[in-house]
Amino acid sequence: MKIVTVDDYSEMSKFAAKIVASQVILKDNSVLGLATGDTPLQMYRELINLYNEEELDFSKITTFNLDEYYGISEDNPHSYHYYMKNNFFKFINIADSNINILDGKTKDIERECKAYDNKIAAAGGIDLQVLGIGVNGHIGFNEPDVNFEAETHLVKLDEKTVESNARFFASKEDVPTSALSMGIKTIMQSKKILLLASGPKKAEAVFKMLKEDVKRFV
Ligand code: PGA
Repeated sequence: MKIVTVDDYSEMSKFAAKIVASQVILKDNSVLGLATGDTPLQMYRELINLYNEEELDFSKITTFNLDEYYGISEDNPHSYHYYMKNNFFKFINIADSNINILDGKTKDIERECKAYDNKIAAAGGIDLQVLGIGVNGHIGFNEPDVNFEAETHLVKLDEKTVESNARFFASKEDVPTSALSMGIKTIMQSKKILLLASGPKKAEAVFKMLKEDVKRFV
C-alpha cells in the first residue's frame, strides 16, 4: 500500500486523475471501477480536461460503478446513473455499451447482483477501482461491520450514512434506506485500488482504517 498526502482537495484530484489517466494510457481497454459522491468530482473534471486536450481516449474503456441507491430510477437526479452521466460520461468518448451501473429499480435483486459480478469477471476483473470512504468508514455502501466475503448485494444503509447523504436530498426522510453495492470481496478482487479521502471530516475514518484493528472499526 502506498499512502500519498497532498496539500488540498485540488492537488488530490489532480494526482488521482493522473493515476486514472496512466491506467487508461497504459491499457486502452482497461476496466475501471468508479465511485460517486463529492470526493471524486474534481478528479472527473480533471479527466474531462485531459480528454479535451486529446490526452485520453476512453473508446475502449469499460466501467463498473460501485453502487446505486435501491428503489430510484436512472433518471432521478439523486441516482448514481444520473451523477455519472452528468459529471463524467457525457463529456468523454466512452461507449454507452461499456458503462455498467447497477439497476436500482430491479425486481430481481439477487439476479441483478449475480449478473453484475459475472460481468465484472467476464470483463477480466477491475484493473483500477476508485473509492471514496464514508465518515463512518464505509466503502461503497459496505458499512464497517459487514461480512468481508460478500459480493454485490443489497445493503441496508447505516443511520450515519443516511444522515451524511441527506445533504444531497430535500430532507433526511427522502434518502433511500437501502442500496445495491459491490461487496468487499468484489472490491478486493480489483487489481489496483485508489482510495481518496479529503477534509477534516474524513480524518477519523482514515486514521482508523490505517491504524486500528478491523474488528474494532465500528
Ligand atoms: P463523499 O462520500 O465523497 O461524498 O464524501 C464518500 C462515501 O460516502 O463513500
